[in-house]
Amino acid sequence: MGIFLLLVFQLLWNLFIIVHAQNQSGFVSIDCGLVDEASYIDETTSIYYTSDASIIDSGECHNISSKYKASSLSKQFWNVRSFPERIRNCYTLNVPQGRSSKNLLRARFMYGDYDGRDSLPQFDIYVGSKWWESLVFEDPTSVVTKEIIYVASSDYVHVCLVNTNKGTPFISALEIRVLNNDAYLINSMELLARYDIGLQDDKIVR
Ligand SMILES: *[C@@H]1O[C@H](CO)[C@@H](O)[C@H](O)[C@H]1NC(C)=O
Ligand SMILES: *[C@@H]1O[C@H](CO)[C@@H](O)[C@H](O)[C@H]1NC(C)=O
Repeated sequence: MGIFLLLVFQLLWNLFIIVHAQNQSGFVSIDCGLVDEASYIDETTSIYYTSDASIIDSGECHNISSKYKASSLSKQFWNVRSFPERIRNCYTLNVPQGRSSKNLLRARFMYGDYDGRDSLPQFDIYVGSKWWESLVFEDPTSVVTKEIIYVASSDYVHVCLVNTNKGTPFISALEIRVLNNDAYLINSMELLARYDIGLQDDKIVR
C-alpha cells in the first residue's frame, strides 16, 4: 500500500513537472534584431520569443540575405542585431529566478550575409567581464550555438559582444533556461562537464 501511494505521488509529481515546464516562466527567449513585432510564438518549438529592443540601446537590426532564408530556417535566424560601433556592446538580461539561481545561457548566431559583404566575421562573447567564447563561422548558413551553465550573482546578467578587429559582431538569439532541480543537472552531465571548463578563473582571457 505504501509503495502504491508512493507511485501515485510520483506520478502526480511528474505531471506537475510537465505542466510546470509548459509554463514558460523560467524561459527567457530573445530574438535579436526583431523589428516587425514585439513578440511571437515559434511555430516549431512553441517557444515565446520577444524582441531585444528593450534590453539593448546599441547596434543595428538587419535581415539576413533572402537567399539564405530557407523555409526550414527558424525565425530567430531571419534577422540579427549587429554592432559596427564600439568595441564592446552588452545586453542586460533579467535572470528569472534572480540571484544564486542556476541557469543555462544560450547564444545563437547565423551570419546569413546580413550585411551584404559576404565576409564571415570573428568576435568574442563575454558573460559579464568573463570571456565565454570566440565565434568563428564556417559559412554563411552555419548556425553556431554557445551554451554555458551560469549561477547568477545578481538579478541580471550582462552578455557582451566584443569586437576583436576581425569583423563586426552580431547575434541572432539569446536564451535563458532556469535549471530548477538537481535531477535536471544530472541528466545534463555532458553539458556541465563541457562548459564548466570555460568557467574556470584561470582560463586565458584576451
Ligand atoms: C506562468 O506562471 C506564472 C507564475 O508562476 C504566472 O504568473 C503566469 O501567468 C503563467 N503563465 C502562463 C502562460 O500560464
Ligand atoms: C526585414 O524584412 C521585413 C519584411 O520581411 C521588413 O518588414 C523589416 O522591416 C525588415 N527589417 C529590416 C531591419 O530591414
